[in-house]
Amino acid sequence: MGKITTKFVCNKCAYEVPKWMGKCPGCNSWNTMVEETVAPRVKGGGKSKSKAVPLSAIADTDIYRFSSGNSELDRVLGGGIVPGSLILLGGDPGIGKSTLLLQVAQSIAQTGKKVIYLSGEESLKQIRLRSLRMGIDSGNILLVNEPDIDCLSEYVDELDPELIIIDSIQTVYTKEISSIPGSISQLRECTAHLMELAKKREKAVFLVGHVTKDGAIAGPKILEHIVDVVIYFEGEKNFAFRLLRGIKNRFGSTDEIGILEMSGHGLMEVIDPSYIFVGSAQNDACGTAITASFEGSRPLLIEIQALVSASGPGYPRRMASGIDQNRLALIIAVLEKRRSLNLSAYDVYIKVTGGMFLKDPSVDLSIAAAITSSLFNRPLPAATVFIGELSLSGQIRQVPFLEQRLKEIEKLGYSKAVIPSSAFKIADTRRELEIIEVNNLDDVIELIG
Ligand code: TYD
Ligand code: MG
Repeated sequence: MGKITTKFVCNKCAYEVPKWMGKCPGCNSWNTMVEETVAPRVKGGGKSKSKAVPLSAIADTDIYRFSSGNSELDRVLGGGIVPGSLILLGGDPGIGKSTLLLQVAQSIAQTGKKVIYLSGEESLKQIRLRSLRMGIDSGNILLVNEPDIDCLSEYVDELDPELIIIDSIQTVYTKEISSIPGSISQLRECTAHLMELAKKREKAVFLVGHVTKDGAIAGPKILEHIVDVVIYFEGEKNFAFRLLRGIKNRFGSTDEIGILEMSGHGLMEVIDPSYIFVGSAQNDACGTAITASFEGSRPLLIEIQALVSASGPGYPRRMASGIDQNRLALIIAVLEKRRSLNLSAYDVYIKVTGGMFLKDPSVDLSIAAAITSSLFNRPLPAATVFIGELSLSGQIRQVPFLEQRLKEIEKLGYSKAVIPSSAFKIADTRRELEIIEVNNLDDVIELIG
């Protein structure tokens, strides 16, 4: 056996140094270095090496997936759970991770298959109370209150489950490492063990990981590269809607989002998500614009609110919630330069409803329209949706998936859509929806009148 040594690991970015430092050289955060003991690996371990397999010899069958019972979660997973995959579900404490996974367990248990639910966080009684509240009661959900991950393979041999849930990775440990549960080396080692278990036994494993803001417990960020799928559960606690956001997926596309609603009986799928992000179809308040943003593989109608108000002395304020601050600065700069709107004497606030964060550049036009509307104190045309990317020259540029966006707009009962002008070929077959084509910002400002 080699010598047991220690090292210092940043609990934010996992940067390693041999000696303690106040500031992490990796991410420049202060006081994040924690001591970890490094036990040397046992040499050999009696394992024989696996054989190299020709690529062409591997059967080209489709990936088999089974449903989690929740269509929004299935969507983010790329169509369902793949056996043998390790899925990390991260999120703030209290957001609903345990609730969601208990519901998944129930739906799999109902098909007659077994689910192991290992909880290091709550007592069995607490889980029982939650399950009663949600109307979940099944003999196929097997609760394990054993934080030692080394015992898990015995449970798997004994029970042959379809799914294993670890709630949470921060509370389990392996005896191979002496550091406390939740430390970086425990997190990494336990995850590696679970990955091996998942792959060897072809079992799907869900890992719950808490994200903490103060870094007291190492965040699951460092586990992202080990696991197959990373999903973040987002939302504000005092807001019923929750977003499932795919960050990484070895079996499907990322950027997919799922929308759920927390109710008294657990999390419900939101059937028509566009309805929750727009106030009312006939909104005619100044500074409010509707846009159709493409999130994952579907368009969502979302309300953008702008408030332009005279600023006090000093620099004017630019505040963006739900879009990138730099994007707001860019749109304001284009409005000032190309349309000579004097926004330097005004504070500009932008808010996206429903706690969404929009990255789709095609919402630029709606932001510009909302700002102009608030500045002029004139409402935008009623029941109108704005789609288009703004170029630095003030031109409105084409956007992808226009047809799908227009369908969603029509479905929700809007009567007009303002779109980039070169898109006329797609749009001219439409009857119910009036299409207004715009070339540049002048056309848009003309609409506001
Ligand atoms: P939980 O799943 O325990 O969160 P996490 O595992 O992410 O820490 O969810 C906790 C919150 O959800 C708690 O504040 C209560 C709320 N909740 C409901 O509103 N309805 C329900 O049916 C359940 C089970 C929980
Ligand atoms: Mg929990």
